[in-house]
Amino acid sequence: MCGIVGYIGQKNCVPILIEGLKRLEYRGYDSAGLGVHTSNNIDVVKTKGKVATLEKAASEVKLKGKIGIGHTRWATHGEPNQVNAHPHSNDDFSISLIHNGIIENYAALKKGLIKKGYVFKSDTDSEVIVNLIDSFIKLNHTLFESVRSALNLVEGTYGIAVLYNKEPDKIIVARKGSPLVIGIGDGEHFIASDVNALITHTSQVVYLEDDEIAEIYADRFVARTITDEEAIKIVHEIDMSPEEITKGGYDHYMLKEIMEQPESIANSFRGRLLHEEGLVKLGGLVDIEDEFAESERIIITACGTSWHSGLVGEYMFEQFAEIPTEVDYASEFRYRNPIVRQTDSMLFISQSGETADTLAAMREAKRRGALCLGVCNVVGSSIARESHAGSYIHAGPEIGVASTKAFTSQLVVLALMSVFIGRKKHMSIIDGQKILKEMEKIPGKVEQILKLNDHIEAIAEKFVNANNFLYLGRGYNFPVALEGALKLKEISYIHAEGYPAAEMKHGPIALIDENMPVVFLAPQDSVYDKVISNIEEVKARKGKIIAVASENDDKIDSLVDYTIKIPETIRMLMPILNVIPLQLLAYHIAVKKGLDVDQPRNLAKSVTVE
Ligand code: AGP
Repeated sequence: MCGIVGYIGQKNCVPILIEGLKRLEYRGYDSAGLGVHTSNNIDVVKTKGKVATLEKAASEVKLKGKIGIGHTRWATHGEPNQVNAHPHSNDDFSISLIHNGIIENYAALKKGLIKKGYVFKSDTDSEVIVNLIDSFIKLNHTLFESVRSALNLVEGTYGIAVLYNKEPDKIIVARKGSPLVIGIGDGEHFIASDVNALITHTSQVVYLEDDEIAEIYADRFVARTITDEEAIKIVHEIDMSPEEITKGGYDHYMLKEIMEQPESIANSFRGRLLHEEGLVKLGGLVDIEDEFAESERIIITACGTSWHSGLVGEYMFEQFAEIPTEVDYASEFRYRNPIVRQTDSMLFISQSGETADTLAAMREAKRRGALCLGVCNVVGSSIARESHAGSYIHAGPEIGVASTKAFTSQLVVLALMSVFIGRKKHMSIIDGQKILKEMEKIPGKVEQILKLNDHIEAIAEKFVNANNFLYLGRGYNFPVALEGALKLKEISYIHAEGYPAAEMKHGPIALIDENMPVVFLAPQDSVYDKVISNIEEVKARKGKIIAVASENDDKIDSLVDYTIKIPETIRMLMPILNVIPLQLLAYHIAVKKGLDVDQPRNLAKSVTVE
């Protein structure tokens, strides 16, 4: 969850590290710090709060040097304060370490180190690693050897970078479970927890794999495994422009990403629709297409918003691919004894491709012999690399912590996958063509919905002081209700729940009074009349109703307090349109409450700890 950066070369590393940390701030933002090699020392500056505070502190002490590491933290062990911020140092400050991950056996290791006379300054698990390294340095091992030996004792996850003042020409990095990428420059190297922090400097990167450790110099790097075997690394070319990770004139990344959806959705299906044959081309599935189509069952595993798109995927796969489909939280899947058969295909949906639970669930499923497919946004991410096959969603970088455009692009790819299988089985060419034709119209319809921004903002104004919200939808729109509620919760801190509309009578109806806003997803589909009955039930109890309805629905206006009228499409694609007003509603409520929508409290973009 934390962000880590590093630089080694001829330039002053401080502005490079600060810029990198700002780009990674979405990974964590409760405290930040820098460690920089100066003449004979490593100077450390740490501050509580955001990277801007660190930048000020570093400039006040005129921090400067050609080799350095930086960290932005999302607290796991120990409260967010200056002492617990990274880098962590050993007793004489000769070693400096930044860490992203969780050391599970830290308590036992700490006890052992305390017995040896080590004194701990912070409450973090990370400080254990720096003191373990120190204990091997004291045995006259090199830094590389000491890091390797220390990591052999550690259980848990880590992406680390280490400096040592007696070996001032290198940075040691290592990875297990937390991402780490090395950027290759001209006589300089960069390190980061994701490529966003590097792309203004280089497009050439090397991904460190789990259990690898690398010694990075200005002009070269050497990678080995933790068991001391040679690690052969391939240089990848990153196809991403620095403009893609700016706010592009918007106040927030989240708003920019909402507004980008006509384009990001089109990118998700571009080149994949074969209209004439009513077929879908998914390059990443070519090698396994028959195995996938013949699966006896599909199990979708994901977290958060990606889990919601998985729920929509369940409806799609059952309706069009005619394969029984189950959806599981990755965190639950991995700790049950899940029944996974060799005839099952498993889909791992993850924007970041680094979510710890989803990655661990995939490794478990692989061990059990299932075909494992990744549906990821971040190219080269762990899930994308480790899955047997998969499809990228091509939404482009998503920086806002609240996922928006990744969700709609995931839905596009899941729809394409279901047609991909459906056409191999029972789906007619006519039905295939119809879906693809509708898919192509989606970006234009999204554009139409985005034009309702001012109207939705005016509705948001009325609910800034609400304490609770209910979101209700049926069928394909039930997961949209869950997603709308999640968006509101995470950025406005208003308690919100999503329910299948018909379930309301089984409990939540007790909550309804004149202070309860209820958002209904009420498109004119096969369950429209039933949703209208649910609306009547809420109205009878004086709930305040916002309805997302079809553009030509004249009946609904008299039943509800506010309507958001949107274009129609076929049922399977409705969630893509219906979620957009909910994203805007959550965004405007949070902005009007004066909250930081891009970096909501307690959250991190990519949850790389379990
Ligand atoms: C979404 O708004 C959340 N921030 C969160 O639920 C997210 O979707 C979840 O952590 C999964 O992330 P992933 O898609 O990168 O795996």
